[in-house]
Amino acid sequence: MAKRDNTLKLKFDSARKFAPAPESRSAAKIKPKYDLFINGKFEKPLSKKYFDSTNPATGEKLSEVADSSAADVDKAVKAARNAFNSWSKLPAAERGKYIFRIARMVQERARELAIVETLDGGKPIRESRDFDVPTAANHFFYYAGWADKLEYAFPNRTAKPLGVAGQIIPWNFPLLMAAWKIAPALATGNTVVLKPAETTPLTAMLLAEIILEADLPPGVVNIITGAGSTGAAIVNHPDVNKIAFTGSTDVGKIIEKAIAGTDKKATLELGGKAANIIFEDAPLDQAVEGIVNGIFFNQGHVCCAGSRLYVQESVLESVLRKLKDRIETLIVGDPLDKNTDVGAINSKQQYDQIMKYIKIGINEGSDMFQSSCTLPSKGLYIPPTIFSNVAQSSRIAQEEIFGPVLTIQSFRTDDEVIEKANNTPYGLSAGVWTDKGSKIFNLTTKLRAGVVWANTFNKFDPTSPFGGYKESGYGREGGLHGLAPYLNLV
Ligand code: NAI
Ligand code: MG
Repeated sequence: MAKRDNTLKLKFDSARKFAPAPESRSAAKIKPKYDLFINGKFEKPLSKKYFDSTNPATGEKLSEVADSSAADVDKAVKAARNAFNSWSKLPAAERGKYIFRIARMVQERARELAIVETLDGGKPIRESRDFDVPTAANHFFYYAGWADKLEYAFPNRTAKPLGVAGQIIPWNFPLLMAAWKIAPALATGNTVVLKPAETTPLTAMLLAEIILEADLPPGVVNIITGAGSTGAAIVNHPDVNKIAFTGSTDVGKIIEKAIAGTDKKATLELGGKAANIIFEDAPLDQAVEGIVNGIFFNQGHVCCAGSRLYVQESVLESVLRKLKDRIETLIVGDPLDKNTDVGAINSKQQYDQIMKYIKIGINEGSDMFQSSCTLPSKGLYIPPTIFSNVAQSSRIAQEEIFGPVLTIQSFRTDDEVIEKANNTPYGLSAGVWTDKGSKIFNLTTKLRAGVVWANTFNKFDPTSPFGGYKESGYGREGGLHGLAPYLNLV
C-alpha cells in the first residue's frame, strides 16, 4: 500500500487551487458597513437598522450589515419581478455568459473571498481556500454551461422559469450555498432575492460586488441581509414564486406551513445525522481518515456530516485506538493559520448547543474522549470529541449536534446496521467502508439517504445531485436534478 501522509488534508478531487496561501488578513478589504444590494445598486435599508458581523475566533467586530425589514424585502422582490420579464426572455446563451463571468470573477477574487469566509465564519483557511471558494466557482461554471442546453435536459418538454426565487441560506458554507442557490436559478431564467445567515453575511456582500461588476442587468440578483424575520418576510411575500432554503429542520417546517395552500414551490435542504459504517473487511487506516474528515471537516457544522459511526464488532477496538491516535494529531486553533485542521465554532448560540449535547452525552452514560489539544485562550473552540458505548435511542445518537462530536456504536450483521443507520428522523447522507462491492450495492439500495458515499466521504461535485429523505427535506441541488426545481415542466 502506498505510504500515506499523516496530516488531515480534507482535500477534494473537484477542488483546484486558484490562489496561494493567504499569509495575512490584510488581503481582505472588508468595508466597515454594507448596504443592501437591490436593483443593481447598494442601497441603505428602509429600516435604517444595521447589525454587526463578528469573527468567532476572536470576538472582533468585522463590519456592519443592514437589517432588512419587510419593506426592504418588498423592494427587493419588486426589483426581481421587474427584471424577470427581460431576463427570462434573454437568449439562453447570453444568460450563460453572465453566469460564466461570475464564475471567473469568483476565481479572480478567490484569495480575498477565502480570507473573508474564514474571518466571518471561523472555518480553517485551508478549507475556504481549497474547498469553499473553488467549489463555488465550479458551480457557476457548471450551470453556465446548462443555460442554453435545457432542451437536452428536458427533451420534448417545455421548460419555463418559475419567476422570483427567494433563497435563504445558512452559515456553514456561506459563499458555496449562495452559489448552489443562485447559479441554477439564473441558468433557468429566474430572478433572485437571496438572504445570507446573520452570522456570515460578508462573502455574500462580496458576491454582490462581483455581480455588480459582472454587469448583470439590475434586479436579476438582489442580496439582502437580516435575521430570521427577514427570511420569513421573503417566504411570506405574495410575489415570490419559489423558496429555496438550507438550514434547520425546525425552520424548514415553519416554511412548509407558511407556503401551504399557496402556489409557491420549495426546495428544502435540512438537517442530518449521517451514519458512517465500517465493515471488518474495510481498509481501516483509510476508513479512519474518512471518518475524521466526515465529522471534523468545518468543525462538524455540516448537514451531511458523518456524525454516527458504526463499526463491525471484530474491528471496534482497533478502529477506536486508531481514531483516538488520529484525533490527537489534529490542530485546533486560529482559522487563518494554514496548518489548522479544526477552526472556531461559528457562533455563541451554536457553541452553547454543542456543549449542551456533550453534557447530555455524559449524563446518558456514554464514554467521552476528547483530544488533549490546548485551545486558544479566547474565541469559541471545542476540541474533537468522540462518544463510545452509545445507545441507539440516546439523544446524542438521534439529534443533530452540528459540531465536532462523533458517536460510536458497534454492530454484527448487515441487517442490524441497516436498521440502526435508518433509525433516525433524518436521511441526508451515509457512508460505507468495505472491500466488497456486493456490500456496497446491498447497502446503497437499503440506506434511506439522499447521498451514499462508498470508501470516501464529503465528496461534492457540481454534477452530482444532493438532497435528503425524511426530515432532511426534499428537492435536489446540483447536477441535472438541480435545474428541475426552478422550472415549470409541461
Ligand atoms: P436556522 O435554520 O435558524 O437558520 C438558517 C437560515 O434561515 C438563516 O439565514 C436564518 O436567518 C433563516 N431563518 C431563521 N428563521 C427563519 C424563518 N422563520 N423563516 C425564514 N428564514 C428563517 O438555523 P440556526 O438557528 O442558525 O441553527 C440551528 C441549528 O440548525 C443548528 O444547530 C443545526 O443543527 C441546524 N442547521 C442546519 C443546517 C444545514 O445545513 N442543514 C444549517 C444551519 C443550521
Ligand atoms: Mg461572522
